[in-house]
Amino acid sequence: MHKIPVIAHRGASGHEPENTLAAFRAALKMNADAIECDVQVCKSGELVVFHDRRLKRITGERGKVKRKKLASLRQLDAGKGEHIPTLKEVLDLLDGRISVNVELKSKGTAVAVAQLLRNGIRTGNWKTKDFFVSSFYYRELRRFHETFPEIPISLLYNKKPRRLKKRIKVLEPFAAALNAGKIRPAWIRRVHEKGLKVYVWTVDDPQEAEHLRSKGAEGFFSNYPDRLIKKR
Ligand code: G3P
Ligand code: MG
Repeated sequence: MHKIPVIAHRGASGHEPENTLAAFRAALKMNADAIECDVQVCKSGELVVFHDRRLKRITGERGKVKRKKLASLRQLDAGKGEHIPTLKEVLDLLDGRISVNVELKSKGTAVAVAQLLRNGIRTGNWKTKDFFVSSFYYRELRRFHETFPEIPISLLYNKKPRRLKKRIKVLEPFAAALNAGKIRPAWIRRVHEKGLKVYVWTVDDPQEAEHLRSKGAEGFFSNYPDRLIKKR
């Protein structure tokens, strides 16, 4: 496989608990090109890195992330004794050593994420080009783009990519990330026709990656970035 970006999905989450510092450290060690992390706002207002709205699957506890203060989220085990990190902690850990894709998972994250990235660029070792931001929520992406237009945007689609024309006009994205389980060659062509790159989530099998690449995929999100990196 030619060298195309391999993005560690929720960190190297096939190896370490997803969206934890351990998973991001592992991705760094494997030389992934970027890490992807899911970001939400908790009750006390901090940006936390966590995928589900509910805590149950990952921590075994009842309740929703948005109803818990950071202090109580801190007490929970996110797997192998890891805690739920804040986005700030993740940025401080990685400190410009790997690119970061922030997925805006909940409403009300855009402005706070923009501020945090700006701060990381101003005070840490981060550069604007180290980041890209994505979301399934158009409005959240729009708010983000209005707040920090220099940071590249990637559109996220679960199914067929829709409303591309409008989204491209407003958000000026560089890529659309499509669901590997549903992707069709026609969707890839459609995205390419509009001048965007096609990224695919989530691909753990190098043969599948090779096949998708032959159809035009130009970046992969993987829980096992090491497997795809080895093959390229
Ligand atoms: O950004 C790609 C992927 O993370 C989107 O789906 O549910 O894993 O956040 P999900
Ligand atoms: Mg995600």
